[in-house]
Amino acid sequence: MRPAEQETTIADMFDRIAGRYDTLNALLSLRQDARWRNVLVSWLPKRQNGSVLDVACGTGDILTTITRRRPDYRSLVGVDISENMLTLARKKLGDSAKLQKMSAEELSLPEESFDAVSIGFGLRNVVNKEKALSEFFRVLKPGGVLLILEFFPMDSGILNRLFQFYFQQILPLIGGLLSDRMAYRYLPRSVGTFYTPLALAGRLRTTGFQMGRQRSFLFGSCRLVEARKYSI
Ligand SMILES: C[S@@+](CC[C@H](N)C(=O)[O-])C[C@H]1O[C@@H](n2cnc3c(N)ncnc32)[C@H](O)[C@@H]1O
Repeated sequence: MRPAEQETTIADMFDRIAGRYDTLNALLSLRQDARWRNVLVSWLPKRQNGSVLDVACGTGDILTTITRRRPDYRSLVGVDISENMLTLARKKLGDSAKLQKMSAEELSLPEESFDAVSIGFGLRNVVNKEKALSEFFRVLKPGGVLLILEFFPMDSGILNRLFQFYFQQILPLIGGLLSDRMAYRYLPRSVGTFYTPLALAGRLRTTGFQMGRQRSFLFGSCRLVEARKYSI
């Protein structure tokens, strides 16, 4: 499949699961997803009249958390390739954020225009991740911060086997029963082929970022990664 077709397939899949996405997320992560997003939002750099771009914004949960917890952020933009996800985000956010259908790989946004770029459980789904990371770097102001919240493949060991069992057996089963089986089979596959934390750090440095803090949740299966664009 060509990259453009792959992206359309992914957008179609998220269009199909959009209606039940929030409920299943809360159920499958035992509400931990909200806690992880709260930590991400608390890591946004302190700015007066801050501007943030949330990429792969989905149903808008990171942006709604920002509206509640970070009044210092006045300009909120969200982009996603799934129209159905964006429709749900628009219902939650009203006019408190500007939401646009756009791919992470090709942001039609001016360079050096955001204090922060966030992406939660989205980078794993992007076909050309290197291109997306370069785009995040381009749109960030010097000194701006990139925050990535994502599931990562785990090292070997008993916990890994436990999580593999959950991701590969339980999660597609529940997701398949309540939503779309194909989509919830895709989740463990996309985690398995994603960067390791070390490989992501390497890629971020190659893109020009300086690595910042990292925090792991659920024994390292989910991580929050901070990277900063140098201010010269
Ligand atoms: C697992 S959801 C995450 C949604 C939200 N960020 C959250 O925290 O719940 C992944 C989202 O990534 C979007 N997505 C996938 N590929 C994308 C791309 N290339 N550019 C922008 N969004 C993309 C999907 O449409 C979907 O809404």
